[in-house]
Amino acid sequence: MRVLAICGSLQAESTNLDLLRLAQKRAPAGMDIEIFDGLRHLPLFNPDIETAPEPVKTWRAALSATDAVLVATPEYGHSLPGGLKNAIDWVIGTGELERKIVAITASAAGEGRGLLGLEALNGTLGAVSARIVGGAPLVRGPRQEAQLVELLDELAQAVATRAS
Ligand SMILES: Cc1cc2nc3c(=O)[nH]c(=O)nc-3n(C[C@H](O)[C@H](O)[C@H](O)COP(=O)(O)O)c2cc1C
Repeated sequence: MRVLAICGSLQAESTNLDLLRLAQKRAPAGMDIEIFDGLRHLPLFNPDIETAPEPVKTWRAALSATDAVLVATPEYGHSLPGGLKNAIDWVIGTGELERKIVAITASAAGEGRGLLGLEALNGTLGAVSARIVGGAPLVRGPRQEAQLVELLDELAQAVATRAS
C-alpha cells in the first residue's frame, strides 16, 4: 500500500513534517509512506498554462502512483496554506486526486488549534470527491503518537475496504 504524504508547511523546522516523519516510522505493516517535497516548486495555478510545467508533471505523477494520501498541515489565517491549495488546484481539472482516499490531520499546539484549516482542506477536497479519513488536529504531547497510529490504521482500513 503506497501512501503519499504531503506537508502543508514549507518551513524547514515544521511540526507537521515531524508528524509525517513519525508516520513513516509508525506505519502499519504493508504501508509504505513517501513524503512529497515538491509543493514549493509548483508555480501559481493558472488555467491559461496549457502545457504542464515539470514540477506539475512530477506532482501529478506522484499522486497517480499512490493508493492513498496523508496530509498534515498547519492552519494559516483560519484556512489551509496557500501552497497546499495551489497544489490541489493543479489537479482539480486533471483528476489525479479524484475519489482518492485522503487522510488529513494537523500537528496542533493546543486544543482548538488547526481545526479551521482542516475544515477548509476538507471543503477543497470535496471538489475532487476525495474520501476523507480523520480530520482532527493532533495536539502535540504524550497522546499524539498513539492518535497518529490510530489514524494510520484507519487509513489502511479504508484502502483495504476499497480494494476488496
Ligand atoms: C501566517 C501565519 C498564520 C497563522 N494562522 C493561524 C490560524 O489562523 N490559526 C491557528 O490556529 N494557527 C495559525 N498559525 C500558527 C500555525 O498554524 C502553527 O504555527 C503551526 O504549528 C505551523 O506549522 P508547522 O510547524 O508545520 O510549520 C499561523 C501561523 C502563521 C505563520
